[in-house]
Amino acid sequence: MAVLVTGGAGYIGSHTVIQLLNSGEEVIIVDDLSNSSIKVLDRIEELSCKKPKFYKVNILNEEKFEEIFKENKIESIIHFAGFKAVGESVEKPLAYYTNNLISTLIILNIMKKYQINNFVFSSSATVYGDPKSCPILENFPLSTTNPYGTTKLMIENMLKDICNADKKLNVAILRYFNPVGAHESGRIGEEPNGIPNNLMPYITKVAIGKLEILSIFGNDYPTHDGTGVRDYIHVEDLANGHLKALDKIRTNSGLVIYNLGTGKGYSVLDMVKAFSKACGKNIPYKIVKRRAGDIAMCYADSSKARKELGWEAKYDLDRMCEDSWRWQKNNPNGYEN
Ligand code: NAD
Ligand code: WQD
Repeated sequence: MAVLVTGGAGYIGSHTVIQLLNSGEEVIIVDDLSNSSIKVLDRIEELSCKKPKFYKVNILNEEKFEEIFKENKIESIIHFAGFKAVGESVEKPLAYYTNNLISTLIILNIMKKYQINNFVFSSSATVYGDPKSCPILENFPLSTTNPYGTTKLMIENMLKDICNADKKLNVAILRYFNPVGAHESGRIGEEPNGIPNNLMPYITKVAIGKLEILSIFGNDYPTHDGTGVRDYIHVEDLANGHLKALDKIRTNSGLVIYNLGTGKGYSVLDMVKAFSKACGKNIPYKIVKRRAGDIAMCYADSSKARKELGWEAKYDLDRMCEDSWRWQKNNPNGYEN
């Protein structure tokens, strides 16, 4: 019986696939490679000494997607596939609603047809909108400020309704905070298309000399140094949260929701400082005006995951920066050599 990992060639998916393989799981990856490289698959094999079955399929192509279920015995699904860029979602909301919502509905309908009951979903701290305080607990009010976030919240609501109606379903909704870092080998990591929107890949591109200077979006927030504070979490810790969540839903029915963060908030300037230490170079930066839609502060209370999953983030900020830098330094052009 296999675990189907949608989006398994992507950033978080690829790290999770390696941990699943290392823990003895049979893994099948489905990914249309719209935001990832085929070369990830060789690296997964190199790092795990196993070759998971791979289907290059867009989930929206329902017929082709269903073939996977006819050909394999699937027991659980971890659903990473989706579009994830906040700014792009404002420009192309239809593409985001179509890809993120319809692909999830297709999966849920196929799960019903093939009697697959275990589902782990990649949600995001973005569903907390602008939180009234930090640290953020799972029962805080939910709201969104952009179409990407709205797709996550809509899917969460769908999952709640579907689980209420079907008691056989076991679902874990994982709300990630800010994933950074890379596999310690420096062989897989995050490789965004074009100019990065997120802070860590932007910093690594400045450090490697592909971008000139980091723009810091505002230094007048009510935080310790005026720059935005976030909960950065190592992608390996995040990946491990999926294994723990899978263990949980295999033995407990119903729907569970967990924050996956470290519980520590670091500012943009803290990140610049920590990264400079890791790479041994100064990161040039300038302060510019706030980015529309940004919030001052966001960090997790992850004590629920600690108590109920036995999960805790292990890696500190220095390690996140060192691993991000090793990946960038060894792969200045990402997966394209
Ligand atoms: P990613 O873009 O690296 O990975 C997603 C993968 O899904 C890509 O490989 C892409 O090719 C694939 N994909 C997209 N649409 C598809 C489709 N219709 N059919 C098949 N494959 C498809 O993103 P990631 O950073 O690994 O994020 C994984 C998940 O976690 C996403 O759902 C994202 O929204 C969520 N998430 C990410 C972050 C973050 O900052 N990276 C934070 C919170 C939540
Ligand atoms: C972090 C901090 C910026 C870039 C986004 C999504 C969220 C989740 C993670 C998917 C902020 C500042 C950034 C730059 C900067 N993704 N910054 N200069 O905005 O917390 O979250 O990614 O679910 O949904 O909204 O992450 O990395 O973009 O920004 O000063 O060039 O860095 O203002 O304070 P964010 P980020």
